[in-house]
Amino acid sequence: MKITVIGAGNVGATAAFRLAEKQFAKELVLLDVVEGIPQGKGLDMYETGPVGLFDTRIKGSNDYADTADSDIVIITAGLPRKPGMTREDLLMKNAGIVKEVTENIMKHSKNPIIVVVSNPLDIMTWVAWKQSGLPKERVIGMAGVLDAARFRSFIAMELDVSMQDVNACVLGGHGDAMVPVVQYTTVAGIPISDLIPADRIAELVERTRNGGAEIVNYLKQGSAFYAPAASAVEMVEAIVLDRKRVLPCAVSLDGQYGIDGTFVGVPVKLGKNGVEQVYEIKLAASDIEALQKSAAIVDENCDLLKSIFA
Ligand code: NAI
Ligand code: 2OP
Repeated sequence: MKITVIGAGNVGATAAFRLAEKQFAKELVLLDVVEGIPQGKGLDMYETGPVGLFDTRIKGSNDYADTADSDIVIITAGLPRKPGMTREDLLMKNAGIVKEVTENIMKHSKNPIIVVVSNPLDIMTWVAWKQSGLPKERVIGMAGVLDAARFRSFIAMELDVSMQDVNACVLGGHGDAMVPVVQYTTVAGIPISDLIPADRIAELVERTRNGGAEIVNYLKQGSAFYAPAASAVEMVEAIVLDRKRVLPCAVSLDGQYGIDGTFVGVPVKLGKNGVEQVYEIKLAASDIEALQKSAAIVDENCDLLKSIFA
């Protein structure tokens, strides 16, 4: 097993370190355009091995030849969101970066599974898929795991219960139009509507929608990275260990929920082949409408980018 992380910034380096500790891959490559950063961070991580007790070989690089024959590639390259900037502001810049990165990955790896993190997430996942020529099952966007983790942590905080017992369902695009589904959000199987008053749930839903911006406003420079990196690694773990985890991921839909050909967050089964099943769950009419609206925003943005593939 060989895993490559593209982008040695906050999310990429944190994800690489987590992956090294988990020893999912014998070989881990950390690649960035900036010279010295992936080499320095990679060596620093490798030197943690004797005390962190892992043997993962980590190579920092600026050369895609080092990524050859990767089984899984995580793309985190791009510009992070700054205060006052919407994810869509990043659209053009990051689309160019993700396209170039994907082209380079595919020159050296025949059939990788690509996990996209770069924003705007659903659109960048489409860019990576379109550029890669890979089957849809092998290009997967990370956002739902993070958005659900945020919702889960706010619920755990609210009720003073273990995070472990809270399960949340967040669908749709990674943005203001995400769709937290209260109906399928539970604590040890108990619907949260039995535990938290409706007006308070609405506040937690709103905080989840603004979860990314809340961290950006604190950090001032850059955006969240611990929870995003952990979320990407959770997806990689499901694939590497063929765990058949059911996780919300941005995948290309094929008519499910009345959406066709758009990458948007829905529950999927993740295993060694990437997306092994897309679940079409029963939703309230208002949630389906919100999901379709969210997908329409993704579509509009993908349309803006069609020229880069002309
Ligand atoms: P960062 O700025 O710390 O790291 C980005 C790295 O990408 C930098 O080291 C930069 O040199 C590198 N890079 C830029 N162009 C490149 C290229 N052409 N080839 C290779 N590397 C290149 O940013 P951070 O915080 O790591 O975020 C990375 C991306 O992930 C951003 O687009 C951010 O918005 C997104 N993100 C998405 C989340 C999600 O839920 N999907 C959550 C958190 C961040
Ligand atoms: C987040 O949700 C910035 O998309 C990133 O934290």
